[in-house]
Amino acid sequence: MKQEKFDAIVIGAGAAGLMTAFTAGQQGARVLVLDHNNEPGRKILISGGGRCNFTNRHVAADRFLSTNRHFARSALARCTARDFLALVKRHRIAWHEKTLGQLFCDGSAREILAMLLEECRAGHVTIRLSETIRDVRHADGYEVRTDTATFASETLVLACGGLSIPKLGATGLAHDLARQFAIPVVRPEPGLVPLQAGADDLEWMQSLAGVSLPVRARCGKIGFDEAILFTHRGLSGPAILQISSFWKEGLPLGIDLLPGRDVLTLLKDARSARPRAHATSILGEWLPRRLAETMGPRLLGPKPAAEWPDRILRPAAQALQNWSFKPARTEGYAKAEVTIGGIDTRALSSRTMEASTVPGLYAVGEAVDVTGWLGGYNFHWAWASGHAAGVAI
Ligand code: FDA
Repeated sequence: MKQEKFDAIVIGAGAAGLMTAFTAGQQGARVLVLDHNNEPGRKILISGGGRCNFTNRHVAADRFLSTNRHFARSALARCTARDFLALVKRHRIAWHEKTLGQLFCDGSAREILAMLLEECRAGHVTIRLSETIRDVRHADGYEVRTDTATFASETLVLACGGLSIPKLGATGLAHDLARQFAIPVVRPEPGLVPLQAGADDLEWMQSLAGVSLPVRARCGKIGFDEAILFTHRGLSGPAILQISSFWKEGLPLGIDLLPGRDVLTLLKDARSARPRAHATSILGEWLPRRLAETMGPRLLGPKPAAEWPDRILRPAAQALQNWSFKPARTEGYAKAEVTIGGIDTRALSSRTMEASTVPGLYAVGEAVDVTGWLGGYNFHWAWASGHAAGVAI
């Protein structure tokens, strides 16, 4: 089988791989990108509801989870949200800012992918799709054997992501190759993922499927003020996706259904002002109707407000303000937006993403143990780590 030679081989034509490839290619390196999917950037295309939340104005190392929480700092400083936005503007992609500093395309995520591919063309990057990788060897340089050919290079970049959403092409290849080169991998887990209710809660929560409301969700010391969404299996919505990355099995979440309000006082005032009203109609003033219908009788009973003694108001207020929800499990990689954990950052240079014990081997993007919050941070890590590696190659 014929062998083709390149300066660098990048495995993975996702956000991080394409960023690495065009950065290196535009500096003169001969770069090959290999991917087993038949199209590049599948996750880009479906991201942000099809509009790609491509970065966030508040990018900073404290918005990322990692065993080494300082690791991302260097790469983020050399590829900022402003830098990526400049690229987006140069390609005349219309964009807008949503809440919490999140930047989205006005039109379609396709524009971000087209931009990356155009930059790859400018860097003379070769992209080969539908390539099944059979094995990777390292002697003098690297040799990657696929079903169709063998490719050789001085440098190999692991940009093949994590385990999230296998049906989009996610595999454990990056982790497996790291282990092959004796690089440790921090235990991968699903992140930014819906949480399932246990048997005790499932029935009443299922009846609320589709209900959404703004809350404050907490797990230990970390809390997020965003929306939750009741699903047929438990809870989702941005507040839950965010908190899921911090949740560990067995831990309860504390959910404030009326954040910023003193619920005990609200209930007492309602009792005085509307003594003949029932729980559903009083709670319905502050909560979505279906939630009030379910929660009202459970917490305050069937009697009108005049007959609510203080001893039931206090636990009711507590349940509304600090609902202790104990998820049974996450919905797993099939539904997780990201993979927490991955290639151990202690084995990588934070400046270049090169492995300290394996010269010429780099790891970027979601494959690495750096996971962003929801809101454009994960793509930003793909851009920043890809840029760092691309410059270094
Ligand atoms: P990515 O997974 O994108 O790319 C890896 C590439 O490697 C893929 O092309 C894959 O086919 C290839 N590959 C894998 N295994 C291989 C193998 N064995 N052989 C060959 N090739 C292989 N983030 C954000 O910041 N804003 C957002 O709006 C969203 N929205 C969003 C929606 C959904 C539904 C998901 C699932 C995820 C998001 N994300 C997001 C997260 C974001 O998509 C993710 O963090 C980046 O795509 C990671 O980029 P990478 O290039 O590292 O991996």
